[in-house]
Amino acid sequence: MKKINKVVLAYSGGLDTSVILKWLKENYQCEVVTFTADLGQEEDFAAVEAKAKQHGTTEIFIDDLKEEFVKDYVFPMFRANPLYEGYYLLGTAIARPLIAKRQIEIAQQVNAEAVSHGATGKGNDQIRFELGYYYHQSDIEIISPWRIWDMNSRAALVAYADQHDIQISKDKRGEQPFSIDANVLHSSAEGKVLEDPFIEAPEYVYTRSVAPTDAPDVPEEITIDFKSGDACAVNGESLTPYQLLEKLNQLGGKNGVGRIDLVENRFIGMKSRGVYETPGGTILYHAHRAIESLTLDKEAAHTKDEVAPKYAKLIYNGLWFSPERDMLQAMIDQTQKNVTGRVRMKLYKGNVMITGRESAFTLYNADLATFEDDQIYSQQDAEGFIKLNALRLRNLGKKS
Ligand code: ARG
Repeated sequence: MKKINKVVLAYSGGLDTSVILKWLKENYQCEVVTFTADLGQEEDFAAVEAKAKQHGTTEIFIDDLKEEFVKDYVFPMFRANPLYEGYYLLGTAIARPLIAKRQIEIAQQVNAEAVSHGATGKGNDQIRFELGYYYHQSDIEIISPWRIWDMNSRAALVAYADQHDIQISKDKRGEQPFSIDANVLHSSAEGKVLEDPFIEAPEYVYTRSVAPTDAPDVPEEITIDFKSGDACAVNGESLTPYQLLEKLNQLGGKNGVGRIDLVENRFIGMKSRGVYETPGGTILYHAHRAIESLTLDKEAAHTKDEVAPKYAKLIYNGLWFSPERDMLQAMIDQTQKNVTGRVRMKLYKGNVMITGRESAFTLYNADLATFEDDQIYSQQDAEGFIKLNALRLRNLGKKS
């Protein structure tokens, strides 16, 4: 093993990263600095700190990145209306680049030559972390324990933890639990009870939304205001990006909005079944499309829709920090200047139902669209338009 003096570990405080902390110290005889990012997940950070201390960490970083996460990562991404494979709002994928960036900053600050993370060798997150690390420091040493050690099961980790006095919460002892990743944008669950894609996810997998069948019988009416592509107020109240997403999570969660059960293709190539809850993000997605429907030019909107899957795939594959993402981002941002106004909607038993939209920059022209008499559009012009479009078709028709 290469000699390492100091390593910064992305530390959640859970079983895996606690074992990694000990394993790093034991195998490299190095100092371990822990870094925990607060991205709005429900977490007892005092307990995380206590655990890190107990395991002999030299320095502990617990950073509040909530506002930066929503303002500089989630919001720019939502300008694109990104969905991976048609459904996934990228809640985990968008968090990894920020964690990687901050982790490298810390490594530089504390003079560590290496970084480490707890993502397994099967998933997307190892790729996202490590592309982010290399982008910010090309010669960084990366220690990815899951690809090195021979502990390949949860039971092996538990045995290691027992040998090394690492406390394990009861639920991790028996049956391997499903794996969870959470931040203010979403929570995702994979594994164990979810591994058979035909078996419905049990209700206890869900943590931030009620089942649509248990949601209130009366629709909840809300408004969201946008300014140049980003949401800025809910029900007329101005909020910071993080506050806004939290507010939408509350509203969406109690109305059963944003649950998705899907099978997705990982970058590595395997299919995986996941259950996601993205209440606020789902509302934001629909509201943003609604305000764009008024304010974007037809071809601009269509072109944007064409690049959205490509943009989503880049982020899914861990290429947030890349020239191609920057290019697409510049293009998308350029369309958002006039994406300003108010959207009305009803949240009802898992649905987001748009009921109205208005904008000072609206391109909707009631005079043009009216079924009543108008002075600016000549219906006769349509005849030539159709005939020229039919030219080719009529020519084809003649031949058959
Ligand atoms: N499959 C999702 C993604 O690649 C989530 C991964 C992390 N989730 C988890 N439960 N471990 O973005």
